[in-house]
Amino acid sequence: MPIKKVIFKILRYKPGHIDPARFQEFTLEVDPATSVLDALEFIRLKQDSTLMYRHSCHHSSCGTCACRINGIERLTCITKIQELADDTITLTPLEGFKPIGDLVVDMNRFYDDISEEWSYLKKAEKVKSIDLPAGIGHFSRFENCIECGACVSACPVRHKNAPFIGPAVLAALNCELKKAPQGAKDLMAIAGSKRGEHLCERALNCSRVCPTGVYPARHIADLRRLIEKKNLEKTANPK
Ligand code: SF4
Ligand code: FES
Repeated sequence: MPIKKVIFKILRYKPGHIDPARFQEFTLEVDPATSVLDALEFIRLKQDSTLMYRHSCHHSSCGTCACRINGIERLTCITKIQELADDTITLTPLEGFKPIGDLVVDMNRFYDDISEEWSYLKKAEKVKSIDLPAGIGHFSRFENCIECGACVSACPVRHKNAPFIGPAVLAALNCELKKAPQGAKDLMAIAGSKRGEHLCERALNCSRVCPTGVYPARHIADLRRLIEKKNLEKTANPK
């Protein structure tokens, strides 16, 4: 494929140095099949070693590389330059998170909201090879969510500084409800709390941007039905 000239317009931010944030442009000649992440690696190696961005797996499994590409939340590792219509590619960090530097944001609050006690995390993240049944050489994740934060960034409610727990956490909570119904009371208390489902404005952005097909909005709709059912039961049986 012919080499293409592309301009990367990246929002730079370094507290105390590049502050407030401002855009910086980098011009690159690349194979259009190059991923945005590989282009970032090239910029960091050849043009500016201070550029900050996150990545790990390079294959849409770890969730660390999510950012906004031309205004839409995507994983940089699986977004190829040829998929983007424009020759200028604008990169900004996820929204709704505290910025740390350039494309890196603080994900701690988001991770903290997903309880480590929820079974899907225990099984998918903590399994050791010695736990695998005989003849099984590897394991797959039980859930599709890679905790990338894209849905949180795209959610209009989080942009209003609302205390919303967010789409990914509610999706995880709904999965946990199905797998561990004995914990339903506590889980429903979180779903129905002041940070919970009622803050969702049904924009569906979460499902649109999710790179792994979690469709968080469907899980939120499930929770809404359960909460409404519970409220109806309470009204019918006030004791
Ligand atoms: S639900 Fe989808 S968009 Fe949200 S954190 Fe999980 S993988 Fe990312
Ligand atoms: S680098 Fe792991 S999901 Fe992109």
